[in-house]
Amino acid sequence: MKKGYFITFEGGEACGKSTQIKMLREYLSKRDNSDDFLFVREPGGTPLAEEIRKLLLNYEVDKPLPMTELLLFCASRVENVYKQILPALNNGKIVIADRFYDSTIAYQGNARGIMSSKDILSLTKKIIGGLTPNLTFYLKISPEEAFKRKSKMDEGMDRIEKEGLLFHQKVKEGYDFISNLEKDRFYILDATKSPQEIFDEIINVLKVKIPEYFTEEKSLDEKNF
Ligand SMILES: Nc1ncnc2c1ncn2[C@@H]1O[C@H](COP(=O)(O)OP(=O)(O)O)[C@@H](O)[C@H]1O
Ligand SMILES: [Mg+2]
Repeated sequence: MKKGYFITFEGGEACGKSTQIKMLREYLSKRDNSDDFLFVREPGGTPLAEEIRKLLLNYEVDKPLPMTELLLFCASRVENVYKQILPALNNGKIVIADRFYDSTIAYQGNARGIMSSKDILSLTKKIIGGLTPNLTFYLKISPEEAFKRKSKMDEGMDRIEKEGLLFHQKVKEGYDFISNLEKDRFYILDATKSPQEIFDEIINVLKVKIPEYFTEEKSLDEKNF
């Protein structure tokens, strides 16, 4: 039986995670073995975790304290890991997550400074039983470049604000910390390349890391052309 394999996508806002995940989902959906792959999102993923997501995103009504925010992210992750991710991995599936605990280290740890990155790492590992991704694609981009992309997306944001840029810098430092500490699982991608170039690199890496999921069956594209 195939072993499960856990892949995460990480990087600051606007580095291109959703873009790559969408391309991957489309590519895999055309394959005969598309059922081998499960896409999950954070926060969220189960009915209860989706409710927690709503609480986290509904900041305007009653903005959570930073520590509450951290614990809500953790609560959502516990639900998602034990009810969805681990059962899928135990069934031999490839689980692909848009963000995981590296985001908590970068955002709630390094950027917001709620706890040290080291403490967040040990907390998060405790609550999810030590589950660690097998492979993490880190879309690396300079804080300036990411901030420019984000400014373009946010209507009404017409100048670069200093806190915004500083925040992006801290997020990047958080990612640099964890990607150095757990080097073996990280594959760093240059997020300034074109979406297609990045995607081609991702597929090449997957074919090396999980060849058993890419043999025999071919995508419809490969069959037709
Ligand atoms: N490789 C790329 N080069 C230039 N722009 C990109 C690239 N990848 C994504 N974008 C654009 O950057 C913005 C953020 O992309 P998105 O995939 O939503 O990022 P994330 O999910 O990491 O926040 C979008 O407008 C998207 O079209
Ligand atoms: Mg996204």
